[in-house]
Amino acid sequence: MKILVTAGPTREPIDPVRYLSNRSSGKMGYALAGAAAHEGHQILLISGPTSLDIPAGVDFLPVETGLEMFEAVQRHIGRMDAAIFAAAVADYRPAHPATGKIKKSSAPLSLDLVPNPDILGSCRSVFGFTGTLVGFAAETSDVLDHARGKLIAKGCDLLVANDVSRPGIGFESDRNEVHLVFPDRIETLPEDDKTSLALEIIHQVEKLHAH
Ligand code: C5P
Repeated sequence: MKILVTAGPTREPIDPVRYLSNRSSGKMGYALAGAAAHEGHQILLISGPTSLDIPAGVDFLPVETGLEMFEAVQRHIGRMDAAIFAAAVADYRPAHPATGKIKKSSAPLSLDLVPNPDILGSCRSVFGFTGTLVGFAAETSDVLDHARGKLIAKGCDLLVANDVSRPGIGFESDRNEVHLVFPDRIETLPEDDKTSLALEIIHQVEKLHAH
């Protein structure tokens, strides 16, 4: 299969030296890209900035901002059999990034933010993607309810949900526990390292694609 994977955080410029971002390490997305390549699939990994090594055998397209990630996905998704959205795209970006470094002053400073496009949410409606679509959801409460809502709203075949309020798993960790939310059922994969979970998720994607 040809599989597109998004991973990592995005960086939204405030001025030439500052940005808004989040604590995504990219580990889950990179583990998915690596596991899928290892299984013999053709992978395009579209990634925001991380400190990780690019997995072996993966085509790599680095981006910085949510808008760049949106454009990269739009350009490539048409030829994909499946797309897995593990990136933590910033929900907002500064409306008017300054062209020069903002000088310090004693006055308060406010930033105008505008929403970034929802890349996963654009796949069915804007990009016309008909392949297997997998989203992620990091939640701190009512994990399964929110995940099911996102599965339906974004037209996914599978939504992988994790509880980021639990210490020791999820963001920045090598380990995770995830719930696989399908339109007709939920399966929980107990806590494990992200490499093993990634392989299990790729097997699920293979099954979804075969149906
Ligand atoms: O941020 P949210 O919980 O809605 O993210 C759910 C899914 O949507 C994730 O798979 C994430 O990668 C994707 N997403 C996206 N573009 C955004 C926001 C989220 O592709 N702007």
